[in-house]
Amino acid sequence: MNSSFFTVFFFFFILQCTLSSSMAMAMEEGTQCSPKDRAALLSFKASIIKDTTGILSTWQGLDCCNAWEGIECHPTSSRVISLHLQTSPSDPLSYMKGTLSPSLSSLTFLQSLLISNMKQITGFIPLSFSNFPNLTVLYLENNMLVGPIPSKLGLLSSLKALSLSGNKLHGELPSSLGSIPGLLQINVGMNLLSGPIPKTFRNLHSLQSLDLSHNLFSGPIPTFFDSQFQNLTFLDLSYNQFTGQIPASLCSLSGVLDLSLSHNKLTGFIPGQIGNLKSLSSLSLSNNLLNGFIPEDFAQLQKLWYLNISRNFFSGSLPEKLGTGLQSLISIDLNHNNFSLGSIPKWLTNKEQLREINLSGCRIKGQFPEFQFPESLTSIDFSNNRMTGQIPNSISKMNSLTKIDVSRNLLNGSIPESMGEIEGLEWIDLSINELSGRIPESFVRLRNVRHANFRANRLCGLIPQARPFNVFPAVAYAHNLCLCGKPLPPCRNKNSSSMNSN
Ligand SMILES: *[C@@H]1O[C@H](CO)[C@@H](O)[C@H](O)[C@H]1NC(C)=O
Ligand SMILES: *[C@@H]1O[C@H](CO)[C@@H](O)[C@H](O)[C@H]1NC(C)=O
Ligand SMILES: *[C@@H]1O[C@H](CO)[C@@H](O)[C@H](O)[C@H]1NC(C)=O
Ligand SMILES: *[C@@H]1O[C@H](CO)[C@@H](O)[C@H](O)[C@H]1NC(C)=O
Ligand SMILES: *[C@@H]1O[C@H](CO)[C@@H](O)[C@H](O)[C@H]1NC(C)=O
Ligand SMILES: *[C@@H]1O[C@H](CO)[C@@H](O)[C@H](O)[C@H]1NC(C)=O
Ligand SMILES: *[C@@H]1O[C@H](CO)[C@@H](O)[C@H](O)[C@H]1NC(C)=O
Repeated sequence: MNSSFFTVFFFFFILQCTLSSSMAMAMEEGTQCSPKDRAALLSFKASIIKDTTGILSTWQGLDCCNAWEGIECHPTSSRVISLHLQTSPSDPLSYMKGTLSPSLSSLTFLQSLLISNMKQITGFIPLSFSNFPNLTVLYLENNMLVGPIPSKLGLLSSLKALSLSGNKLHGELPSSLGSIPGLLQINVGMNLLSGPIPKTFRNLHSLQSLDLSHNLFSGPIPTFFDSQFQNLTFLDLSYNQFTGQIPASLCSLSGVLDLSLSHNKLTGFIPGQIGNLKSLSSLSLSNNLLNGFIPEDFAQLQKLWYLNISRNFFSGSLPEKLGTGLQSLISIDLNHNNFSLGSIPKWLTNKEQLREINLSGCRIKGQFPEFQFPESLTSIDFSNNRMTGQIPNSISKMNSLTKIDVSRNLLNGSIPESMGEIEGLEWIDLSINELSGRIPESFVRLRNVRHANFRANRLCGLIPQARPFNVFPAVAYAHNLCLCGKPLPPCRNKNSSSMNSN
């Protein structure tokens, strides 16, 4: 008994010595972590019941300023000024489980607090997080936080950037956030937030980026986002329940680069002033209830490379004037509208950089177009129109193409042999046309195809007997004249297997 008592005693004695000598060393180097800050950090650590990232296992000993991962102290005062804990967003096995300790707010000198991608930190955002007088950055992204955004966060008067995206927060955006005059960035995307955009946001003139996407926000898009928001470059209101019209005032955001209003319930026209968005590079209005014509002013959007107005009720044709503008266009998606485009507008086929075109369901008549820069195109979708005539031999010039969908048209003649030269093709849909002849033997070179559909044409003869064409489901070849060979039954006579493709 006595001996074990002494062992324990000596152990403590040695431990004391080790601790006080490391404390002394830390003092000498001027890196002494404030005991108050250390206690706050340890209470954070204690509220995390599981950490697979390995970060918190470094939080040992006294020197929180140098030895602890994710902590930065002020060089002279040695007070903790930043706490950055993050891990890979895509690795589900790397996470922290637990809650956010309210005691963190004892880190009074904190300037930057970032706890991101921890996936399993749950519970509320502590009210005490409003007590950081010098906090400029608050990022609590991709955790599993619940409850409302505390209104008291409006007391963070030095805050520049706030991101709470990727949690399960609900309730409304607190009006108090509108009283933080220096806010540059707000991101609350991918939560369960609802209600309107607070009127107080009219004061946030320094905003550079506002992301409210993937929530349940409703009400109109406020008219106060106007020329006073001269530095706003990114505005994403997509995947919400916003109603009413697109306010013309939005068109005076002359610095905006990315504007997304897709997946809402917006009605009415695209404002004629759209051409004032001189910096616009990406515009998404898809999946709304918008109607009317495409304004000629679109032609002034010289920097626009991405245009997606699919799934609305736009009608009429595309103004010829667009031919003189839209010089930077790379991707255009007009699918599912009430257009009557006639033939594919000539100006669209002259765009040098154009890579992706989706004109599905645009009531296109006329022939498959010739493109002036076919080698740029990577994806074309002309499905669900009324195109006639043949697929031209020149299609092989589209040598970067990975995806072609011309299904549900009135195309006839045979599939050009030359199509087999587009070796990068991954997706071919020629279904529901009037194509005849064989599926060209040259298709055996198309080894990268993941999806092909030849259903409901007038095709005949041997299916190319090479992977993947001989292993696609039989429905991909159904309702033709006389296709045969795997995956369909064998050809009955030599004629069908040697039939030419002309
Ligand atoms: C906040 O920052 C100011 C200067 O920017 C400084 O004077 C003040 O001491 C800081 N306060 C805290 C609690 O860190
Ligand atoms: C916009 O940015 C410029 C340059 O960074 C800055 O001088 C100006 O104050 C900012 N405007 C607002 C309203 O914050
Ligand atoms: C256009 O937007 C819809 C979502 O609203 C999306 O599914 C589609 O992929 C987009 N088109 C392009 C070419 O990105
Ligand atoms: C679709 O366009 C036609 C004219 O082309 C028009 O009569 C009809 O009202 C439009 N439908 C919608 C829902 O806009
Ligand atoms: C074109 O849009 C439709 C409807 O959104 C979509 O299903 C299709 O995949 C798109 N085409 C391409 C090539 O992306
Ligand atoms: C294709 O259809 C057009 C009418 O749209 C017709 O004039 C032409 O002869 C047809 N060609 C073939 C090869 O069937
Ligand atoms: C094969 O085709 C030729 C001419 O196209 C015809 O004369 C012959 O009868 C056909 N043979 C069979 C077995 O159908």
